[in-house]
Amino acid sequence: MKINIRVMRQAGPHAEPRLVNYEVPGVSEEMSFLEMLDVLNERLTARGEDPVAFDSDCREGICGMCGIVINGVAHGPERTTTCQLHMRSFKDGDTITLEPWRSSAFPVIKDLVVDRSSFDRIIDAGGYISVNTGAAPDAHAMPVPKPDADRAFEAAACIGCGACVAACPNASAMLFTAAKVTHLGLLPQGQPERDARVVNMLAQHDAEGFGGCTNIGECAAVCPKEIPLDVISTLNADLERAMVHGR
Ligand code: SF4
Ligand code: FES
Repeated sequence: MKINIRVMRQAGPHAEPRLVNYEVPGVSEEMSFLEMLDVLNERLTARGEDPVAFDSDCREGICGMCGIVINGVAHGPERTTTCQLHMRSFKDGDTITLEPWRSSAFPVIKDLVVDRSSFDRIIDAGGYISVNTGAAPDAHAMPVPKPDADRAFEAAACIGCGACVAACPNASAMLFTAAKVTHLGLLPQGQPERDARVVNMLAQHDAEGFGGCTNIGECAAVCPKEIPLDVISTLNADLERAMVHGR
């Protein structure tokens, strides 16, 4: 296939962004989307031009590093990570537009690479959990109801990619924050700091400049890990609980 790429290029954090067109011939359906970009970058490097900067690490959908708005949709046309998207989702002659995640809390570093350290600071604000050390506890000494274990596991699947922010018209990171709050708030180990965790993580979310949630649901629609929208209800319930406790 021959693919036409229109990519938003930005030389640095304060440079003017501009859309640049490239042709990428010799693309096979079996290539991953990032392999197609590797082919483009090899061609640019061979011509002495600056390759297109983009993030990736595991390339198997688990690390959360990759993320590109592809034809206006965070992670593109399939419900998956950018690295797990394949060129069989496109056809010969297609023009594909690539943009970085857009949010003031995710400033552009270069081209398609954004700074997502705001997510790290939200997690930092959640703090540690109190766990008694000592001899290994007996198996099943701390029973967790199956529905709670399942929901905590579902929330723990969040890989911190930031697609939820990129898709949200409010640039809210509430799905991400709620996934973290839900994950620990349902487990016995998460109880001692449960109130402080939700209050502090939400305060950091707002301080980073993410917008508020107005229940639009675009976040859950693009989330590659299918984090459900109702984790935000769990977060709100935890926040009310913390307020009742005087936090
Ligand atoms: S909630 Fe989904 S879209 Fe948002 S950071 Fe986590 S995995 Fe990515
Ligand atoms: S590169 Fe790790 S999730 Fe895409």
